[in-house]
This record gives sequence, structure tokens and C-alpha cells, in this order.
Amino acid sequence: MIRLRRPSAEPLWREEFSVHGADERYVNRRQFAKFLVLTSLGMFAGNVWILAKSWLARPPAYPRRPVARLSEVPVGGVKLFRYPGPEDPCILVRRAPEEYAAFSQKCTHLSCAVYYARAADRLECPCHEGYFSARDGRVLQGPPQRPLPRVVLERRGDELIAVGLELRPEA
Ligand code: FES
Repeated sequence: MIRLRRPSAEPLWREEFSVHGADERYVNRRQFAKFLVLTSLGMFAGNVWILAKSWLARPPAYPRRPVARLSEVPVGGVKLFRYPGPEDPCILVRRAPEEYAAFSQKCTHLSCAVYYARAADRLECPCHEGYFSARDGRVLQGPPQRPLPRVVLERRGDELIAVGLELRPEA
């Protein structure tokens, strides 16, 4: 016996599956409020976690490491060294007999190595012409937004010892 299908405007699959898509997509006020409350609670918990983590975080401990003897760096000269780790290049600049400073050699823009331009008395990045002060590492020109991290030096007689790294977020 052949069964004939009743002509209908609905496709066959819709008759077979009694799922009402429009009803499923409908979100009532209670569900929406529940979603908002749960999302807000999740975000609040996340913020509390970040705050607690920042309160409990200790400043990093930097090693004490001899960098150079002052007598080995002439006035206007530099010495390259690594601090605090073996992958962290730094540059010591002696600008005057009693004036010296050391900075991370990684440009704060895209990490190219900066070098000391003695004539201009500044640290220059060759990649995009970012210039930094050789006195305090602040940005003088170019795309970098942050100053160079400064290596904190301690002098003991003729010897310069690195004791920390000063990260300064402000421009
Ligand atoms: S990487 Fe130094 S200015 Fe761009």
C-alpha cells in the first residue's frame, strides 16, 4: 500500500523533529538576570584573585654581580655585560670620570640592541631611531614609550657591582 504525504507548507524534517527553534532561542528575563549575575560574580572573583596575587607578590630578588672595574672603562667608553640572567644584555656607559650608568640593552620598543652614540651622548636604537638619555634612560625620541630599565650599581672602591634592575613603566 502506498502512503501519500499530506501536502504541507512545512518541510518534512520539521514535522519529524518537534523542536521549536524560536522557543529555544527565547531567553526570558529570569534567565538573562541569572546570566548577568553569574558573569558578574565570575569577573569579581577574577579581580579579587588578581588583587590578592599582586598583594602577595614579592619584588624579584636580583643577584649581586661585579660588572666592571671603573679603571677599565675609559671616559666616553662602554662595557657590555649580562644582567640579571645570561640572556639579558646590558650596557654600562661612562660619561665622565665620576658619572656612569648602566641600562638594559634591549630597546623598549621591539627589543633591538641599543648602542652608545658618544657624539650625541645618548643611547640609540638603530631599528626605528629610538633615542634614550644616557644619563637616566628616559625616551628622547622615537617610537619607544618606556624608558630603558636601569641597572642599579653599587661602587666598592674601583669596582662596580650590579645589585638590581629598576623597571620604570612611565614614559
Ligand atoms: S626597536 Fe628600538 S625603536 Fe624600534
